[in-house]
Amino acid sequence: MMDTRLSLALEAGHVALPEVGDIAVFGASGQVLTGLPAERLVLICDDVIAAESYKAQGYHVQVEPPESAALGLVFVPRGRIEGRVMFARAAALAAGKLIVDGAKTDGIDSHFKELRARGDCTAAYSKAHGKVFACDVTAEALADWAEQGEGGENEAGFFTVPGVFSSVKADEGSLLLAEALPDNLGKHVADLGAGWGYLSRAVLTRESVEELHLVEASSAALSCAKRNLPDVRAQFHWADATRWEPKFNFDTVVMNPPFHVGRKGVPELGQQFIDSAANILKGMGKLYMVANRHLPYEDILRERFKFVEEIGGNTRFKLLHAAKPSRKR
Ligand SMILES: C[S@@+](CC[C@H](N)C(=O)[O-])C[C@H]1O[C@@H](n2cnc3c(N)ncnc32)[C@H](O)[C@@H]1O
Repeated sequence: MMDTRLSLALEAGHVALPEVGDIAVFGASGQVLTGLPAERLVLICDDVIAAESYKAQGYHVQVEPPESAALGLVFVPRGRIEGRVMFARAAALAAGKLIVDGAKTDGIDSHFKELRARGDCTAAYSKAHGKVFACDVTAEALADWAEQGEGGENEAGFFTVPGVFSSVKADEGSLLLAEALPDNLGKHVADLGAGWGYLSRAVLTRESVEELHLVEASSAALSCAKRNLPDVRAQFHWADATRWEPKFNFDTVVMNPPFHVGRKGVPELGQQFIDSAANILKGMGKLYMVANRHLPYEDILRERFKFVEEIGGNTRFKLLHAAKPSRKR
């Protein structure tokens, strides 16, 4: 089995697991869980892709934290507030017993400083550009961080929580696309990577729409979308849009596809979204999408659609319309 920063810290005795009881794991998304007792782990996964991958490996995975556990193990996420919220939730369910593992690039040094000021932390074990430490900290000491996780209304008037895409205000690309959408979108519409529902709300203003299917990998974002779109026409799917197989085909797909995994730019992800859009559209179906100008989407669009045109944008974003998907590859 592959050694990890955490398995090395455990082996060296820098941190120790409780002898009995569940271990609630926050922030697991692709980490190798070497050195941990698999049968005692409860993985709390927001991302459907991570959740399915861990499930396939036999782990117990759930979206909501359990009521209690003997330990809260936190793999620090990218966002600082998101990390704080995880510490607060972990401390609340595990009577303040935490183990924290994180990379420097994800701000582990400042998390360590902040937690030491509020609780009783061990010295940090440093390895592979990151740190592992244990901390005993009461939920009361982190109450303000728990509150930050409750979310609220953002600048666009939508409910969001920390950690979801563009939580503070609507993305500029999505704003442009929402303005450019035609009045008639047909009866059946899908929003791939729907986030907290900005584009979807614009779709639902169209009278032609009878059903809108929002497909989103982040459970937190999808929960926000549910709250933002109390409309019987909206249906919500916690699913990987690149593998989603609906029961029928759509008149229109709208999307502002992702092109990052973590910090890494992965334009192939947007290309897979285009492929999926073509697969789920009717023969005369239409795709409306927005993308950063530099992203290489035109080739796959021409490969998968008979008609492709740019319908606007600005120096940063391009708005693309494609129609008549060619047969499934
Ligand atoms: C650029 S954001 C657009 C969000 C929303 N449509 C908007 O306009 O605000 C892309 C969204 O895709 C989601 N996402 C990333 N990978 C995904 C996947 N494989 N399947 C479904 N959604 C995914 C992200 O969580 C994010 O909410």
